[in-house]
Amino acid sequence: MINQRYARITGWGKYVPARVLTNDDLAKMVDTSDEWITTRTGIKERRIRTENDTTSSMAVAASREALKVAGLSPKDLDLIIVATSSPDYLLPSVASQVQDMLGAECGAFTLVAGCSGWVYALTAASQYIVSGAYRRVLVVGVEIISFALDFTDRTTCVLFGDAAAATVVEVSDEPGGLLSFELGSDGSGAMFLYVPDGGSVSPMSQRTIDERRQYLRMDGPEVFKFAVRTLASSLKRAIYQAGLTPDDIDLFIPHQANARIIEAAARQMRVPLDKFYINLDRYGNTSAASVPLALVEAFEEGRLKDGDLVAMCAFGAGLTWASAVVQVGTGEVSAAHSLFSVGRARYLARRASDAVLDTAQSALLPLYSFLYQRRRRR
Ligand code: COA
Repeated sequence: MINQRYARITGWGKYVPARVLTNDDLAKMVDTSDEWITTRTGIKERRIRTENDTTSSMAVAASREALKVAGLSPKDLDLIIVATSSPDYLLPSVASQVQDMLGAECGAFTLVAGCSGWVYALTAASQYIVSGAYRRVLVVGVEIISFALDFTDRTTCVLFGDAAAATVVEVSDEPGGLLSFELGSDGSGAMFLYVPDGGSVSPMSQRTIDERRQYLRMDGPEVFKFAVRTLASSLKRAIYQAGLTPDDIDLFIPHQANARIIEAAARQMRVPLDKFYINLDRYGNTSAASVPLALVEAFEEGRLKDGDLVAMCAFGAGLTWASAVVQVGTGEVSAAHSLFSVGRARYLARRASDAVLDTAQSALLPLYSFLYQRRRRR
């Protein structure tokens, strides 16, 4: 009998550049203030790459930490997925740089889904694992988004920052890990958040430089409306799909774009705000690194213990969104979960019925062999 496979997060690590850019620093560059940025977004400061940081070097630093926590060497990896919209080069895929720099011997690909990229990558990694194709997948979210920011445009440059975060996802026969997910895309909103030039439609030209078209452009209020609409509704769908309710979730890890978006989602879901992990005050929106960076810090701060249920949701350029419900740790189910959660009860029931079937099969085996031998002797 083939055991069910589960995809568990067994390692995590982060890298943030040393250079800190505060709201007061930005107020010296554009017409803004600490007061405006703090009240409209919740962001106080963000990290900006130094001359030594590249997308690949930041991804590798975070990955080494994640591998150490998982107790693995790069050679143990079966696949590397790097989610980013700010690779070292248009070609080659930055995932191959990461594979080479780590010394891994496996396939590697880059996944582009804007700020939703790491959650998309986590769900992809899990499919390779539960299908039995791979056992250990490194999933990285990394951005040097600052290279695409126009530091003369106050409506965008105050929002974003650079960071990397990595997770190791491994096969397990203990129920848990990724329980459910939702992936979404609405390309009709593409122009609400995009970089006009540098792609095949509009390659770099003198006009690019003259009109600053190499930089990210955003319709803030439209993206805000989309985000408020999406965060609570996508989280709820993923949670119900796992057979859970929002009350069962121990920690929500939302995309760290704007504190007002997170507060609106908490209100809509009738969940206390302190159940939502927030670190955007220190990092701003780090795009594909945002949700994994928050997850890593939640682990590091001891906010997550074995068996905890985590609901994550990211949204961004595309427009895209992605939610995932994950049970972290070794799969020990706490008394609270087993008492109150339909999902937990279902998993326990499935485990119990598997155990009963296994025992019954073992008990009946001598009888089967006796009957088989008798039939052969006739
Ligand atoms: N400092 C000071 N004033 C600013 C400013 C800044 N950094 N940025 C914009 N403003 C001004 C605007 O120019 C506007 O001035 P006006 O009324 O004279 O025209 C005013 O503030 C209000 O602008 P508005 O865009 O309506 O503000 P807002 O309350 O919607 O907040 C955002 C703007 C960008 C913070 C908000 O729309 C947002 O968070 N959107 C979602 C962004 C996001 O999450 N993007 C990433 C998704 S992955």
